[in-house]
Amino acid sequence: MAFQERERRHATGATPSPRSLPVYFIAAVAAMGGFLFGYDTGVISGALLFLKQSFALNATTQEIAVSAVLAGAIIGAIVAGRVNDILGRKKTLLLLAVIFTAGALLTAISPNLVFFLVCRVIVGLGIGAAASVVPVYISEIAPSRLRGTLVTFNQLAITVGIAVSYWVDLTFAHAGLGWQPMFASAAIASIALFLGMLLCPETPRWLASKGRWNEATVAIEHIKGEQLEQELADIHRSLSEERQQVGVRELFTPLLRAALIVGVGLAVFQQFVGINTVIYYAPTIFEQAGVASASSAILATSVVGVVNVLATIVAILLVDRLGRRRLLLGGSSIMVVALVMLGIIFAHNSGHIGGLTLIALIVYILAFALSFGPVFWLMSAEIFPTRVRAAGASISSFANWTANLLVSITFLSLIGAIGAPATFWLYAFFGILAFIFSWILVPETKGRSLEQIERYWESGRHWDEAA
Ligand code: BGC
Repeated sequence: MAFQERERRHATGATPSPRSLPVYFIAAVAAMGGFLFGYDTGVISGALLFLKQSFALNATTQEIAVSAVLAGAIIGAIVAGRVNDILGRKKTLLLLAVIFTAGALLTAISPNLVFFLVCRVIVGLGIGAAASVVPVYISEIAPSRLRGTLVTFNQLAITVGIAVSYWVDLTFAHAGLGWQPMFASAAIASIALFLGMLLCPETPRWLASKGRWNEATVAIEHIKGEQLEQELADIHRSLSEERQQVGVRELFTPLLRAALIVGVGLAVFQQFVGINTVIYYAPTIFEQAGVASASSAILATSVVGVVNVLATIVAILLVDRLGRRRLLLGGSSIMVVALVMLGIIFAHNSGHIGGLTLIALIVYILAFALSFGPVFWLMSAEIFPTRVRAAGASISSFANWTANLLVSITFLSLIGAIGAPATFWLYAFFGILAFIFSWILVPETKGRSLEQIERYWESGRHWDEAA
C-alpha cells in the first residue's frame, strides 16, 4: 500500500473493511430482490387455476386475487423512499427479504381467501418497495461506466423471475401438488437475498449523506478500489451543497421538477405501452388468436418469457454503449410497429392467426426488453440527487405500479368494449407519445457520474463538462 494511502487512512480514521467484494457480485445479490419482484408477480398466473377450486373463486374474486399484489405494491412503492432513507439501503433490503420470506410461507398456508389476500398484499408491499430500493442500491455502489449494466441486472432478474415462476407453476401443476408450493418456493430466493445482503456493504453515498465519512471511505474502497479520491471529493461537494435544502419537497421545485417529470413520465409510459397485458394475459391473447389448446397457449407464453430474458441480456450489453436515449427511441418505435401490426392481425382475424400473433408479440417483447423495461428502472435510480434519490425513485415506482394496475384491470373490458384491434392501437398511440417524451425530455446519462447528473438538473439542464 502506498505511503500516502496509509497516511490518508490514518487521517480519516478509516479502517480496512474485512472483505472486498467484486461489484458484479454485490449487484447480483441485490438483484435477487428483482427476481422476487418477477417471481411473485408471475406466479399467480399458473396458481390461479388451483386457487379457483380451493377458494371457489368467481370472475370478480379472481380479479381481486390477481390484483391484490398490485395494490400492496402501490403502498410499498410509496413508503419505500422514507424507509430507505432512514434505515439505509442495506438494512431496507434485509427487511424486505424478511417480508418476502414471511409472505411466501404465510401465503402457502392460507386457510381461506381473506387470509390469502392479506398475504398477497404483504408480498406486494415487498415487491413495490424492492422495485425502487434495488436499483437505488446498485446505482449507488456502481462505478459510472458500469452503472447501466449493473442496474440492468435488476431487470434481468425480474424477467428471469417471471420465467422461473411459469416453469415452477408448470412443474407443481404436473406433479399435482397444487398452489401452496408455488408460493412457498419464493422463500428460497428471499433467504438467499437475506444471507447475501449480510455480506454486502452499505452504499458509500447513503453513509456520506448521514455524515459517516469514515465508513463511506471504507465502503467505496472495498467496492471498487478505483478513483477513490475523485469519487469521495465529488460526493462531498454535492452533499455539502445540499445542507440548506428542504427534503422531499425539493423534488417539486422548478429545477428538480424536470427530473421528477422524467421519472414519472417514463414510469407511466412503461406501463401504458401495454407490457403487462402480454405478461399477465398472454395465454388469453393467444386463445383469442385461435390457438386451439391451452397447452399450446402456455407454450407460446413461455416463448415470450424466454425472449424477454434473452433480450434483457442484450440490453445489459448495450445500455452503457449505445446509451439510454437510443434504446428508448429505438425500442418505442419498434413497439409501435409491433402493436399496429397486432391490431391489423386481429382486425383481419381469419381464425388462424396464432403464428402471426406470436411473431408480433415476440417483436414487441424484444423491443420492450431492450428499452423501457430496463431503462425506466435504471433512470429512476440515477436521475435524482442523493438527498432525494430514494424519494424520487419511490414516487416514480408508485406511478409505475398505479399505471400497471390501471392497464391490467381495464385490458379485458377494453377488448370487450372497443375490440382487440383498437385496444392494441391505443397502446401504440401511447408508444408514439413515449417516443416524443423521450426525444424531448430524457437526458443521456450514459457514463456520467451521479453527481454530474445532479448538477445537470441544478444548472437548468446543462452538462458540466469540467466535472
Ligand atoms: C416492468 C413490469 C413488467 C416486466 C416485464 C418490468 O420492468 O416494470 O411491469 O412486468 O418489466 O419484463
